[in-house]
Amino acid sequence: MTLPDAPRINPSILSADFVNMQRDLERIAGADLVHVDVMDNHFVPNLTFGPQMVERVQATSPLPLDVHLMISDADRWAPGYAELGAASVTFHLEAAREPVALARRLRQIGARAGVAVKPDTPVEQIFDDLGEFDQILVMTVEPGFGGQSFRDDMMPKLRALKREASRRGAATWLQVDGGISVDTIAIAAEAGADTFVAGSAVFGADDIDARIDQLRALAAQHAHPAASLES
Ligand code: DX5
Ligand code: ZN
Repeated sequence: MTLPDAPRINPSILSADFVNMQRDLERIAGADLVHVDVMDNHFVPNLTFGPQMVERVQATSPLPLDVHLMISDADRWAPGYAELGAASVTFHLEAAREPVALARRLRQIGARAGVAVKPDTPVEQIFDDLGEFDQILVMTVEPGFGGQSFRDDMMPKLRALKREASRRGAATWLQVDGGISVDTIAIAAEAGADTFVAGSAVFGADDIDARIDQLRALAAQHAHPAASLES
């Protein structure tokens, strides 16, 4: 599967209308991947949907799926989402017993393997295993809910990851999720992000196509891949 080049805008269907999901999936067809937030009311204090719903989204969506698992016991459940055909499956580092083994399993099934870190989790612990992951997700809010404020104090993590990936020649995608909007996307792009999740900023727009284009243009304009090397 050929996936879009950076910068990638991945609308989060957490902000979609759950009973008009097909309509809302069609509305975001001009984006890059569709971000699917799976929450279990255990790892995070909120509940969304599970494999049955994701299977229907996979069958209906014009865009490939970027699944974000906010669930406990990722080792057990994540492979099932790769088997449904998701292009990318991201689990939380805090929820996996054997992150490297799990990432290998996801790749073996045919998905890109992603690992996410909550705001209080340092990123240095994954440096040695960077090559095992196709995507690192730096959460810019506490996971669980859409519509929260962007945390710019997470930018040093992104800069460190960008620096480390460049040093190793790794093509790891760097994703940000939480509070991404026309006011904040440039900050994350400058820090090294290339893949941007946006829920309320996309679904809250009057013209969704125009909002996606505007976010992508801002990210492209502010992408300084080498800037982080100097920081
Ligand atoms: C939050 C989710 C996000 C959420 C982002 O835990 O992982 O994907 O949908 O929503 P916004 O863009 O509104 O912050
Ligand atoms: Zn998410």
